[in-house]
Amino acid sequence: MTHILHRQINAALSVASGGKGIELFDSNGRAYIDASGGAAVSCLGHGHPDVIAAMHRQADTLAYAHTSFFTSDVAEALADRLVADAPAGISHAYFVSGGSEAVEAALKMARQYFVEIGQPQRRNIIARKQSYHGNTLGALATGGNEWRRAQFRPLLIETHHIDPCFAYRFQEAGESDEDYAARAAQALEDRIIELGPETVMAFVAETVVGATAGAVPPVADYLRRIRDICDRYGVLLLLDEVMCGMGRTGTLHACEQDGVAPDLMTIAKGLGGGYQPIGAVLLSQKIFDAFANGSGLFQHGHTYICHPMACAAALAVQDVIARDRLLDNVKAMGAHLARRLGERFGNHPHVGDIRGRGLFMGVELVEDRSTKQPFDPKRKLHARIKKAAMANGLLVYPMGGTIDGASGDHVLLAPPFICDEAAIDATVERLGDAIGEALRG
Ligand SMILES: Cc1ncc(COP(=O)(O)O)c(C=O)c1O
Repeated sequence: MTHILHRQINAALSVASGGKGIELFDSNGRAYIDASGGAAVSCLGHGHPDVIAAMHRQADTLAYAHTSFFTSDVAEALADRLVADAPAGISHAYFVSGGSEAVEAALKMARQYFVEIGQPQRRNIIARKQSYHGNTLGALATGGNEWRRAQFRPLLIETHHIDPCFAYRFQEAGESDEDYAARAAQALEDRIIELGPETVMAFVAETVVGATAGAVPPVADYLRRIRDICDRYGVLLLLDEVMCGMGRTGTLHACEQDGVAPDLMTIAKGLGGGYQPIGAVLLSQKIFDAFANGSGLFQHGHTYICHPMACAAALAVQDVIARDRLLDNVKAMGAHLARRLGERFGNHPHVGDIRGRGLFMGVELVEDRSTKQPFDPKRKLHARIKKAAMANGLLVYPMGGTIDGASGDHVLLAPPFICDEAAIDATVERLGDAIGEALRG
């Protein structure tokens, strides 16, 4: 008997009772390798002593002070740190409590920016099909995952969606990466022109698509082309790195690897590593200047923005990542993970694609490799894999609807940055067994 409205009402949930390093434990004493950090959250694994100590120190100093009265040393320090390490042009940070709140705030920043600079007709948001930007109404409207949007559609603001840059599903046979990148980016220019360039406010995209499609990185110079198109039409580029950012792909920001700097960027999960709920918008100088030289405020706010406990945890997480040179480990272990997945699944009759960047990898399952035919969604293969993996002591993040929100199955892997080769090897072995069991079931 529970009084919590859980995600699945009739599911029997295990009780998490503790965690240490790469493992989580349940109240029956079972240990699980946490190979997805929940939903790519726990980048330092569990129970990290330095983060816990920093949280204790902050609780002893200051737990909360409302931001209409005060700033705090710890929030200022975190903002200094994030701006120093941010892509070119980013000058300020806005701290919230998670990814959806970050996306909502970034959308409002984009809108207010155009009001401040005298272009109030700019209101249209263009995003991509099969993207996920959060579950609050603005973020949900921006996301392109049909299943998540369907029943709430009457409540959603109007937005526009182009096809994603998703090589396995959309690149044509014989089409080079460069040609595909050009074609996928052209869809944005076409849509801007169709809507009227003077009405378009922002293009929103996950640098590497996470939850809905399973670690799909952009192809060739796709993002550079997107940046050029946004600049040509005065459209803001909002990169959503809530899942793929903060080191997950081997660089602090995933877009560094594409040579692109956004006007607005959202970050969350790996920012606080699950030790506290925290997200942020990183905004560029030109947006800050428009506010500073205009109304002198950002017309937004929540009770818990810049929460000192959340900022202290995030600062400690980021300090550990830098001190222990963990991005080097993400690169090395990411390469090892890709190699091991290739060895185990490269010739698997039901694995169509292995993709991703760093410690952010996806495995897409298909009924038929040659035609890329997905499994019947009624089979709920992804749910079976999750269950079989858990029974094997492994936590991964499988999802259905990979292709269009309805069909397709993938498994997302996002091991902690502290993992070693033995943990990766055990992850791949247990995943292989779980997929085998799920396919037989
Ligand atoms: C890319 C992206 N944006 C936004 C969100 C929403 O974040 P939250 O669940 O913290 O609200 C998520 C969550 O998975 C995400 O992956």
